Amino acid sequence: MSNNIEGKVVVITGASSGLGEATARHLSEERATVVLGARRADRLRFLAGELTGRGGKALAMATDVTQRDQVKRLVDAAVQTYGRVDVMINNAGLMPQSPLERLRIDEWDRMIDVNIKGVLYGIAAALPHMKQQKSGHIINVSSVAGHKVHAGGAVYAATKHAVLALSEGLRQEVKPYNIRTTVISPGAVATELPDSISEPDVAESFHKFYEDFAIPADSFARAVAFAISQPDEVDINEILFRPTRQEL
Ligand SMILES: NC(=O)c1ccc[n+]([C@@H]2O[C@H](COP(=O)([O-])OP(=O)(O)OC[C@H]3O[C@@H](n4cnc5c(N)ncnc54)[C@H](OP(=O)(O)O)[C@@H]3O)[C@@H](O)[C@H]2O)c1
Repeated sequence: MSNNIEGKVVVITGASSGLGEATARHLSEERATVVLGARRADRLRFLAGELTGRGGKALAMATDVTQRDQVKRLVDAAVQTYGRVDVMINNAGLMPQSPLERLRIDEWDRMIDVNIKGVLYGIAAALPHMKQQKSGHIINVSSVAGHKVHAGGAVYAATKHAVLALSEGLRQEVKPYNIRTTVISPGAVATELPDSISEPDVAESFHKFYEDFAIPADSFARAVAFAISQPDEVDINEILFRPTRQEL
């Protein structure tokens, strides 16, 4: 019986590490075709080689999600190569947390550019194809920080609240086109994400928190697979999950 994943063409941003990489592996094992975007092309190529070596279909393309032409090129390449785009996973993101009073304004800009505008560019690149196909699935990655704000994490939380708001607006707007929308909000998952924190004291406490609490990245990949694998008339709109031990 089909798992409703097999044969689907899935574009994943931020596929060079962490959640995106784990999702590419998992969906490829479920026989999806994966189209991988991120800036570190060497890592993408290595992953695509590994997946195709195991009999999967994978395409790697260097993509900076802050450049809308590059995101469009990634999705267009999926359509040119495989004929369609079934799922767009807007996953690329970074989390350089710090208290506002430290004025890490360049990092605020970067989070807004990648975590919000990158998601919008992904929606813009996929939507025309999905409208034409009269089918598709857009999966955006928010966070527990999209539901809760803590001191020292205001800008990151603001970007992840924005992803929730965009996803809900998108959900309502794409009904006529038979497009499904899912926003996934993970808690602490073991990835390279804390490495994006530049303030030494903040980085130290996040690394300790992740060492103590974080769960493996395939937790996220299974959530993605759950949403995609539902029958076409079932739209899983929101998933929020945490490590069982995580309080916040
Ligand atoms: N891990 C967690 O605990 C957790 C919890 C909640 C939400 N999230 C969210 O999950 C998503 C994935 O993060 P992760 O945990 O997997 O962290 P990660 O291991 O650091 O991965 C981040 C990915 O985003 C990519 N990326 C960063 N800037 C980019 C840009 N300008 N253009 C294209 N790709 C870019 C990175 O690739 P390159 O550097 O190669 O470009 C990398 O593949 C993020 O949106 C994050 O906010 C993670």
